[in-house]
Amino acid sequence: MKAPVRVTVTGAAGQISYSLLFRIAAGDLLGKDQPVILQLLEITPALKALQGVAMELDDCAFPLLAGIVTTDDPNVAFKDTDYALLVGARPRGPGMERKDLLSANAAIFSVQGKAINDHASRNIKVLVVGNPANTNALIAQRNAPDINPRQFTAMTRLDHNRGLTQLAQKTGKTVNDVKKLIIWGNHSATQYPDVHHATVDGKTATDLIDQAWYEADYIPTVQQRGAAIIAARGASSAASAASAALDHIRTWALGSAEGDWVSMGVYSDGSYGIEKGLIYSFPVVCKNGDWEIVQGLEINEFSRGKMQATEKELQEERDAVKELLPA
Ligand code: NAD
Ligand code: LMR
Repeated sequence: MKAPVRVTVTGAAGQISYSLLFRIAAGDLLGKDQPVILQLLEITPALKALQGVAMELDDCAFPLLAGIVTTDDPNVAFKDTDYALLVGARPRGPGMERKDLLSANAAIFSVQGKAINDHASRNIKVLVVGNPANTNALIAQRNAPDINPRQFTAMTRLDHNRGLTQLAQKTGKTVNDVKKLIIWGNHSATQYPDVHHATVDGKTATDLIDQAWYEADYIPTVQQRGAAIIAARGASSAASAASAALDHIRTWALGSAEGDWVSMGVYSDGSYGIEKGLIYSFPVVCKNGDWEIVQGLEINEFSRGKMQATEKELQEERDAVKELLPA
């Protein structure tokens, strides 16, 4: 058996975590041979509920669960941690855009970025789930100057997974047949689900669908799926978000599939003309615990416009929180 790794989850008494924690402890994050110590962070009023979650984790008798820490102190939660899933933040309600959460949630991520900087493993992998995820990831990253910015990422894997299913259903295939889909940009209504490089069962996706359906149906369905779930469920997506978070970290740590890629919100190096330093979703391949942006894709004018629109929104979000971004 391997030595245990430390996995911090914030917002650990919330609804996403109620799906996430049990799957992490069951081995769905890092494999069935990797023991984990869960370091669970909540705000003080939620500590009692968190205790209940920890009791249930105990009651599952998971063979891979090597320990549980519960705390309301970020300095304890991030101590020596190898993986951090930053879920804790307020979710939006009906009629809100995710960026409406900026003022409520941004401060959380500057505090946690500092705690990561001061206490976490130098090799930590950070995934931000709490919305607005890309800009919260930027805030955490900028408050952790001693950690490589490439180690801070934001979740667009749920959008990627949504896009896979919509395309599979339209073409009468399964998600296993769909490869090389891309989510560009922000986890928001400006994200750009791009099928120009995708294949379905080996065939070029754009030959199987028409442009009118792509523009009027597919793109808005993927962009607005979070709002559609809120309208249907009365609460924001939880089990699917947890599943995507597991997918994101597992792919990053253990590698992406041969001949395919995934979408991750990552630190822009200026690829595809996107401003350096933004946390922007790109197509990435993962190998040896690291990610690389897929290079050399041909971008047509339609795509270019949409990639720039979502970049512009990220620049505006960044400018709105500039007091939380140390130089
Ligand atoms: P929730 O309200 O059920 O749970 C959030 C938890 O975070 C609560 O228990 C709360 O006490 C805790 N919390 C608040 N501030 C905290 C802090 N400073 N430190 C630690 N914990 C803190 O919400 P949820 O449904 O689990 O959603 C969590 C976040 O994830 C929301 O912002 C939601 O919009 C976002 N989300 C993102 C995606 C994505 O694809 N990126 C998908 C779904 C949801
Ligand atoms: C989602 O995409 O389901 C989440 O970001 C929740 C939301 O506010 O849409």
